Amino acid sequence: MSIVNPKNIAFKAFVMPADLNFHGTLFGGAMLAYLDQAGAIVAQNRSKSRVFLVAMNKANFPAPAHLNDSITIYGEVSKVGKTSMTVALQAWREDPITGEREISAESEAVYVAIDENLKPWPVDR
Ligand SMILES: CC(C)(COP(=O)(O)OP(=O)(O)OC[C@H]1O[C@@H](n2cnc3c(N)ncnc32)[C@H](O)[C@@H]1OP(=O)(O)O)[C@@H](O)C(=O)NCCC(=O)NCCS
Repeated sequence: MSIVNPKNIAFKAFVMPADLNFHGTLFGGAMLAYLDQAGAIVAQNRSKSRVFLVAMNKANFPAPAHLNDSITIYGEVSKVGKTSMTVALQAWREDPITGEREISAESEAVYVAIDENLKPWPVDR
């Protein structure tokens, strides 16, 4: 099932000059930070608590994003454990002039719901 649905939009940004790599395209580390933020927002909304990232099981970068592209990240909880949540993430780049749009990155990240002492606590309390 596709997670590309307006209700699953977790993050939006523009590719800014400070986030470019040597090739003039979006630095992979910047995209990873976007994916982490998007996944954390999805996990926080699901657990109604603060969360820690414990694993990024995969990160694929099928197409580069360019300066001034918009980045839209869709995220959906794919699995819920006792304290953990797995979030499927898909980042799309879009050229604002031409409207050309494609998948730029995909990831699966695991977050743990944490209490005020930064210790795991149940997602469903
Ligand atoms: C998150 C943290 C509090 C969890 O503590 P812990 O002692 O590992 O807790 P547990 O062993 O009870 O694991 C908690 C849950 O995470 C899951 N988990 C832990 N490591 C995992 C991994 N590498 N991959 C997938 N799931 C993992 C466990 O299976 C468990 O899931 P469940 O409760 O749904 O069954 C601890 O690992 C931590 O502080 N990590 C640092 C997090 C961080 O700094 N992240 C970056 C900044 S956000």
